[in-house]
Amino acid sequence: MTVGFTLNGDRRSFDVAPDKPLLWVLREEAQLPGTKFGCGAGLCGACTVHLEGAAIRSCITPVSAVEGQSVVTIEAIGVTEPGRKIGSAWIDQDVPQCGYCQSGQIMSATALLAQTPHPSDEEIDAAMWGNLCRCSTYVRIREAIKMAADASPTSSSKVSE
Ligand code: FES
Ligand code: FES
Repeated sequence: MTVGFTLNGDRRSFDVAPDKPLLWVLREEAQLPGTKFGCGAGLCGACTVHLEGAAIRSCITPVSAVEGQSVVTIEAIGVTEPGRKIGSAWIDQDVPQCGYCQSGQIMSATALLAQTPHPSDEEIDAAMWGNLCRCSTYVRIREAIKMAADASPTSSSKVSE
């Protein structure tokens, strides 16, 4: 079956089984290895990408489900305004440790900021709870999200602690 969708701004088609997980289409067919395999069951967030701007778990999303829609991966998130701010804040806060979970973390964080430019702690926790980090970078992630939110000219909040 040929499945077509917009991938990082380009219209792409893949001749794959319709139930092949989007994660493996991205990694094996599109040669985009930035989206990671962790649990394969929708439980860790390592495979997070954007579908029409929303954070989804690509390991449990059959590729046929994204037909005709827009998918963005970590490889292209830096060209978006939230992606630029998050990337800068991630570096400033030294967020990554081993790095394995980080593409998923960044995809969830950018989806949050795109929808909620100045999230509360509760909104950050709600958006990020499903992204696990074995290196326990959670405090740095929260501070980086706050820093990225502060980078907006309409923000009056400050990074705390
Ligand atoms: S690999 Fe998809 S949620 Fe863990
Ligand atoms: S930085 Fe190592 S798992 Fe998150």
